[in-house]
Amino acid sequence: MPYSPRVTKLLGELTLSEKIGQLNQYTDFGDLTGPEAADIDLDARREHIRTGRVGSMLNVIGAAAAREMQDLALESPRAIPLVFGYDVVHGLRTVFPIPLGEAASWHVEGARLAAKLSAREASASGIGWTFAPNVDISYEQRWGRVMEGAGECPHLGEAFARARVLGFQGDGDDLSAPDTIAACAKHLAGYGFAEAGREYNTATIGDYTLHNEVLPPFRAAVDAGVATVMNGFHLLNGQPVTASRFLQRAWLKEGLTWPGVVVSDWNSIGEMEAHGITADRAEASRIALLAGCDVDMEASGYLNYLEAAVAEGLVDEALIDDACARVLTLKERLGLFDDPYRYCDPARERKQVGTPEIHAAARRAAAESCVLLANGGGLLPLSASRPQKVAVIGELAAEQDSCLGSWRIAARPASGVSLLQGVAEALGFVVAPAARADAEDVEGDTRSIAPTEPHFDAARLSGGASGVELRYARGPALLAEGSERVFVKRLTLNDTEEAGLEEAIALARWADVVILGIGEHGFMSGEARSRTDIGLPVLQRVLAKAVCRANANTVAVLYHGRALAIPELAEGEHTPRAILCAWQPGTEGGRGVADVLFGRVEPTGRLPVSFPYVTGQCPLSYRRFATGRPTELPDNSVWWSHYEDAPNGPLFAFGHGLGYTTWACSAPTVHAGEGAYPSVRVTLTNTGECDGTTVVQLYLRDVAASRARPMKELRDFARVRVAAGASTEVAFQLTPKHLEFWTPEEGWHVEPGDFELMVGLSSVEVQTVAWTLPAA
Ligand code: NOJ
Repeated sequence: MPYSPRVTKLLGELTLSEKIGQLNQYTDFGDLTGPEAADIDLDARREHIRTGRVGSMLNVIGAAAAREMQDLALESPRAIPLVFGYDVVHGLRTVFPIPLGEAASWHVEGARLAAKLSAREASASGIGWTFAPNVDISYEQRWGRVMEGAGECPHLGEAFARARVLGFQGDGDDLSAPDTIAACAKHLAGYGFAEAGREYNTATIGDYTLHNEVLPPFRAAVDAGVATVMNGFHLLNGQPVTASRFLQRAWLKEGLTWPGVVVSDWNSIGEMEAHGITADRAEASRIALLAGCDVDMEASGYLNYLEAAVAEGLVDEALIDDACARVLTLKERLGLFDDPYRYCDPARERKQVGTPEIHAAARRAAAESCVLLANGGGLLPLSASRPQKVAVIGELAAEQDSCLGSWRIAARPASGVSLLQGVAEALGFVVAPAARADAEDVEGDTRSIAPTEPHFDAARLSGGASGVELRYARGPALLAEGSERVFVKRLTLNDTEEAGLEEAIALARWADVVILGIGEHGFMSGEARSRTDIGLPVLQRVLAKAVCRANANTVAVLYHGRALAIPELAEGEHTPRAILCAWQPGTEGGRGVADVLFGRVEPTGRLPVSFPYVTGQCPLSYRRFATGRPTELPDNSVWWSHYEDAPNGPLFAFGHGLGYTTWACSAPTVHAGEGAYPSVRVTLTNTGECDGTTVVQLYLRDVAASRARPMKELRDFARVRVAAGASTEVAFQLTPKHLEFWTPEEGWHVEPGDFELMVGLSSVEVQTVAWTLPAA
């Protein structure tokens, strides 16, 4: 790989030990985003920086903290600046909806904007490199990290991977713009297939799945110019991915001629010992480097063992040169050689963090990520001006932390706008700011990741539209008393203590309409937060039933970091009339969700994951293959592929979501298009009484191919706005990319023959037209 003249010259000047230093990455403090691994205290780490034995750091937050570390690095003999990485997964100080929620918007430009504005905040806060986007495809809702990605669909995954990379890195190839940062596509590869959804667990998938379902979003990130890629902790087919020469060297670096940096996951080199792959860290380090992993995060293996490995002839120094050159190239591209302090200016930080622009975008993103699952009798949108008694019920509706989701460790504790506050404001109340213990300015680094207790003080409300009353009841506590509410500790759910239930029921009886906030605590999903039961916590279920029994006009607003199994909300008696998925909507979440509830913004989100009836259906995806016995047989016969106690399909399907108007979508027709490939067209009519936006989805099936193809695969989509009563034509131009798939014999290719082209408004609401691709 050719390096720039500056990198080539510098590389030629560095000693082997200095080159290895560039491959060593330390965290700044504690077990913030992983268990303490490198057995080195903070003072020793700083000394290593001063002596050129560290190339990059993570978890250094804030311009002042980064400047202090950079000062140390610049004291080192070669004065090579550090690059600071951080998990800017869905925002830094200002938190956007979790990525799964963002994917629910099906609005890729929105995701790109969120990444761009997050990069602006991060780049002003010392950070030049985000460990995002997570592009892991997963059908596994038990896995807590499903919240970090774009869901179950490779095509949606590709679209969001591309958008997020372009957002973080800027549109051009110039990473040195001061407000862009390097992105990192992770975790190469297959992590989303962890067995039984248990975190850090083994994945076993064949090449067919790997190439057709798992790798495409990585490929999309690479095509968008992603600067770095992270491997992972897990075994894939018995091999730690950190040791996978195929993934890192053959597929990524050589196959795609990709010039970027591969970083290990947190101590994933060290974890190879636990996997039983190596006897010691020296061997693990050699294996990882040979496999193509350039940077060692937190294992200190490269630092301690690679020099000896070169001396013993076990590692070719040329490989270390290449890894080091990649790191130096990243620093050069980020502009760090020209200005090592370009991300460390506290004055810029004060100006660029928490701007009105980013808050407005976060509010918009929160509204756009909402998915309206049900809206019986058109309960939504609610009126903001009609005289009425409004009850907000549920701890999650008042809590200001859960709405921030899991990856929000740089956000101030309790800095989210609660749903209660958003509703109060929408109803014209003025909500006095709560006293905040942590009200430091952005220069101060609280380093606190412990959220406060949920709180809402009715005395803070004043004003309100005439005749409107607003009251709040918590219901049973979500967490057991004493449960720690911190990122790094296990939660204990409250499964027994019903205190608060009667008060909530009484309030529901009093109200004309109830807004019920239920779901998962913000730390019930995310890294290390797998669940075996993805239903609502038991007392949330009890609360929902009791409230719906007391008041038929109940809207359930769900807070969650994964698809939930919620048949009790959708079927039978005493169910909410409306169900709105809010995911974890971020800093401005309460306002964004209230915008949807009160009709200032139409819900345009569509599910990026299938909601099962029961957890036992997981892993579940719309992208299924037909079995040899796919069809229900007459007479209740058992000889077909099914469960005895649950349907095969989802409760709420991939691509489903309602708006505030109604739609008719015609059957698709095929028209001459470009070359051998036609365009597929439908007429979309807004049959309701207000203007609206919907998502038209194109699915495809290759009817007879050399390998079985999924019965339905999303291949394109369009968000379309249509005035009330109007119609428009929506056209999708087919290309080989829509039809191709990978086989071991032929790689990516298109097979002529019969296809079913399906167009509609969700994965289960499509009409089909047949089409044949003639042999060339
Ligand atoms: C471990 C996670 O798996 C990874 O995604 C993250 O970037 C690192 N920790 C650093 O925090």
